[in-house]
Amino acid sequence: MSLSIVKENTEMQLNVNNNVTTAQASNKLVFDTKDLNLWYGNTHALKDINLQINEKEVTAIIGPSGCGKSTYLKTLNRMVELVPTVRTTGEIMYKGKSILDKSFKVEDLRTHVGMVFQKPNPFPKSIYDNIAYGPRIHGIRNKKILDEIVEKSLRGAYIWDEVKDRLKENAYGLSGGQQQRLCIARTLAIEPDVILMDEPTSALDPKSTLKIEDLVQELKKDYSIIIVTHNMQQAARISDRTAFFLDGEVVEFDVTDTIFTNPADKRTEDYISGRFG
Ligand SMILES: Nc1ncnc2c1ncn2[C@@H]1O[C@H](COP(=O)(O)OP(=O)(O)OP(=O)(O)O)[C@@H](O)[C@H]1O
Ligand SMILES: [Mg+2]
Repeated sequence: MSLSIVKENTEMQLNVNNNVTTAQASNKLVFDTKDLNLWYGNTHALKDINLQINEKEVTAIIGPSGCGKSTYLKTLNRMVELVPTVRTTGEIMYKGKSILDKSFKVEDLRTHVGMVFQKPNPFPKSIYDNIAYGPRIHGIRNKKILDEIVEKSLRGAYIWDEVKDRLKENAYGLSGGQQQRLCIARTLAIEPDVILMDEPTSALDPKSTLKIEDLVQELKKDYSIIIVTHNMQQAARISDRTAFFLDGEVVEFDVTDTIFTNPADKRTEDYISGRFG
């Protein structure tokens, strides 16, 4: 069974009771976060978060260190559950279904919501096996299908031409920028709807950074992307909407142009003009 069939079946189940409302005009929501609070023990890391993430857009999350950006991202694929002291209240709807509900299987969620981290983290395996890893976990054994998934994913992450003649070599032999695109390809191989990116270019040189930024622009035709960045120019260049987080709260969330040219809140203006953070 190919992965897309697995995925379609899961989606059909998910879409039962789908009562997604529209965000603005005709945009469809992929995530709707309602009154989300999160504590690590006594640390109140997310406070009454209400955010609507549109499908097939790039949403940037900006804000100073420690304001809760990574925490918010990790609630969207429930990675935050790995921390034993975590407690949450409120709701996150993914296409109309509540994902914080324990009846929503985390394995299903992660086939829809992939994640790319700050530091490229390829497995100590060949380039080919890095990409085939997720599909194999989903039970795909057929070599021809795997070959197709590997090529399609590497092409999708704009790295195919650089690696097609060295698929059997260890991924650690790639440059940092290539490793990050390999990790994006690995995410694409599970055919997600959403790609979460936590400062994906902060460890990369300017040239590799631009490659990833171009790639994000291409990917948003097919995927919804949420990207955390400390780089204001990057948020302004590549995102459709921007959320400004401060001390666990969303101070302002609007179309990116407005956030950067005419923010409603003085704290947003102070942050984007470099007065703090
Ligand atoms: N595993 C954890 N256990 C306890 N507290 C945590 C944990 N992870 C994060 N925190 C706390 O939650 C708050 C938000 O952290 P988070 O990592 O989400 O910030 P961030 O905005 O991503 O920061 P940065 O820009 O530095 O990556 C901080 O006060 C942090 O110390
Ligand atoms: Mg972070």
